[in-house]
Amino acid sequence: MNVFTTSAEVHAWSIAQKRAGRTVALVPTMGYLHEGHLSLIREARKHCDCVIVSIFVNPTQFAPNEDYDAYPHKEDDDIALCEAEGAAAVFLPNADEMYPRDASTWVEETVLAKGYCGAQRPIHFRGVCTVVAKLFNIAAPDVAVFGQKDFQQVAVIRRMVRDLNFPIEIIRAPIIRDEDGLAKSSRNTYLTADMRKRALSLSRALFAAKAAVDAGERNAAALEATIRETVTAEGWLPDYVNVIDTETLTPLQEVLPGASAILLACRCEGIRLIDNILL
Ligand code: PAJ
Repeated sequence: MNVFTTSAEVHAWSIAQKRAGRTVALVPTMGYLHEGHLSLIREARKHCDCVIVSIFVNPTQFAPNEDYDAYPHKEDDDIALCEAEGAAAVFLPNADEMYPRDASTWVEETVLAKGYCGAQRPIHFRGVCTVVAKLFNIAAPDVAVFGQKDFQQVAVIRRMVRDLNFPIEIIRAPIIRDEDGLAKSSRNTYLTADMRKRALSLSRALFAAKAAVDAGERNAAALEATIRETVTAEGWLPDYVNVIDTETLTPLQEVLPGASAILLACRCEGIRLIDNILL
């Protein structure tokens, strides 16, 4: 497996793959890899001949009060995991490699990025779009794989790809959970044992809402109220709970089975978790 630290090496490698008739898939990550990330590599391998995983904690998607400096790292383990999953290459740039000191260009999606996580984190998706657009230009992939875990992120990236004519297919891979239901996340490492136990209320609330929808419930406000009660009872304060249209992300009053999802973000003692479920 190749381990690259410069954009030039990655670009040359990708172009060489394509000249040799091989397709390339990109899996962008911020590292501290877990089973959720590894499932994306597996998914990517189904679609393309070779997979490149990028590992870069992107400073521009963190606000000054967020956890950029505390974000967990384990690069050596991450490289070994990528190799074990059959990735062909890993791209591990540093911040100077990704951002010229006087960089002054942003990529901003202005509609889907506004609500939900974008409302709480106003510069977040501008940073995500900018770094993902750069990674797309550097790695020139045929396919890129993102997790449903970050539902709004995939929607924003799909819109960016459509609007800016990136010739890249975007795949949304399912959420990987711990056995007890907690959606896997690099940030779960911040949870104390007690907070983690109480955090199970997020997935429990979403599974119960899905069961209610399967049993015929269509009223979004009723579903949202039950979810709020369930997580609040466990000390998690909802930032937002919304039944939404999966394409436009607009809030719905009535569930549209097959075309809606519930997005949930909660806080507890300065830690923020997100989860969602397709309906
Ligand atoms: P990161 O949080 O490291 O996530 C990388 C990818 O893994 C994202 O597409 C995310 O949705 C996916 N992922 C995380 N947890 C998952 C889980 N439990 N199941 C399935 N997929 C999961 O998202 C980012 O990094 C960054 O914003 C990035 C896109 C790399 C841009 O900097």
